[in-house]
Amino acid sequence: MNEAPPLIVALDFPNRVAAERMAAELDPHRCAVKVGFELFVAAGPGLVEGLQALGFRVFLDLKFHDIPNTVAGACRAAARLGVWMMNVHASGGLEMMRAAHDAVREIRPETRLIAVTVLTSSDAETLRGIGIDRSPEQQVLHLAELAVNKAGLDGLVCSPLEASVLRQRLGDAPWLVTPGIRPGGSGGDDQKRVMTASAALRAGASHIVVGRPITQASDPAAAVAAILEEMAKEA
Ligand code: C5P
Repeated sequence: MNEAPPLIVALDFPNRVAAERMAAELDPHRCAVKVGFELFVAAGPGLVEGLQALGFRVFLDLKFHDIPNTVAGACRAAARLGVWMMNVHASGGLEMMRAAHDAVREIRPETRLIAVTVLTSSDAETLRGIGIDRSPEQQVLHLAELAVNKAGLDGLVCSPLEASVLRQRLGDAPWLVTPGIRPGGSGGDDQKRVMTASAALRAGASHIVVGRPITQASDPAAAVAAILEEMAKEA
């Protein structure tokens, strides 16, 4: 069982006022929230503290990727903020991920550290362009094993389409956090390859990230309820 709600709402807003307006419509017992680049750069750590004061678990989605010492410092700072989960790029390498892992453990052991493998916007040509001759699938598996089995990270961000093979390869323990979720029958916005929440859980996801289907709904709380109900059928 997960220790937190398996639904994470992506607060992709340009400023603190808009993010807090949405948070006021959500129930921290029913979902965690994700703060990404745009919102964090605009609103900063104060917004994260504000969300946590409302009771939300915060996934700080800043995908750190730098030299080990710098990433470790960023991870320490995020852990001091008290975030529930944060992430790094697995392509930063084993030493970087181990430094990140040690930094989080040192400050706040309960904070989860997960890795991004290959961005879903990258295809074989993107990888060839940066000198990687493996297919995206092979590269995902390679980086997943490096992150989870060698660096000891808690899990991965992955496409729901990668979840089943990752679950088979890595076993039951790692968290698999999947964006690209759309309720049955709804459009995908700019997401090209989508799954329903229940299909993602069936495929092996432990947590799902949902943005616009909730944040742009006329009744976000009702959209959360509908997705949780669909997920409960899989439990
Ligand atoms: O609105 P939507 O449900 O598409 O939002 C998905 C969220 O997950 C966004 O914050 C997006 O940046 C993030 N994400 C993604 N695909 C990835 C990694 C992150 O959609 N591969």
